[in-house]
Amino acid sequence: MSMRDDIEKVLISEEELQGRIVQLAQEMNAIYSDDDPPVLVCILKGAYMFMADLTRHLDFRHEVDFMVISSYGKGTTSTGVVRILLDLTYSIDNRHVVIVEDIVDTGHTLDYILRNFASRNPTSIRVATLLNKPSRREIEVPVDFIGFEVPNEFVLGYGLDFIEQYRNIPFIGVLKPAVYQSVLGED
Ligand code: IMP
Repeated sequence: MSMRDDIEKVLISEEELQGRIVQLAQEMNAIYSDDDPPVLVCILKGAYMFMADLTRHLDFRHEVDFMVISSYGKGTTSTGVVRILLDLTYSIDNRHVVIVEDIVDTGHTLDYILRNFASRNPTSIRVATLLNKPSRREIEVPVDFIGFEVPNEFVLGYGLDFIEQYRNIPFIGVLKPAVYQSVLGED
């Protein structure tokens, strides 16, 4: 069995992803300029592909930085506990910041990051997320750039994982129920 056989359906194709990412980059190109370059903070691991494709379409000068956040245990449900596993390499004091996320689900991870960043005195903070799952929101969070809204299903691919795997699938998809069940032992 190949990894592709585990996929039940494609939610967002490669072409749709790439087309929308160009549009998001254009939205950002209209806001930021070389006069006051922002730093783009990629929230790892899930946002690495989005970040790589997005930044290739940005016209303005910018720097990139990375932060590793862990909010989930094993499986598909949030534990609500957010931890910084690797912090930024540079200060964001007096800087414009764009947080680049893979998906905003309950909102707890983003809320934690926003509150943490606010205490570091940035000039501004905006948030870009590839995916948004508003039906699952438990805490209100501001999001400035949204790629796609997704239904209340566990999605993966294009950087998003299930048990650390499937990140390399080039589209956003949903696994066959049997695959989740075989790993998690859920009904
Ligand atoms: P939140 O704190 O509930 O908003 O969850 C945010 C993080 O959980 C995201 O950055 C993802 O890493 C992960 N996550 C949430 N929903 C999904 C999903 O459907 N597939 C894969 N990862 C997800």
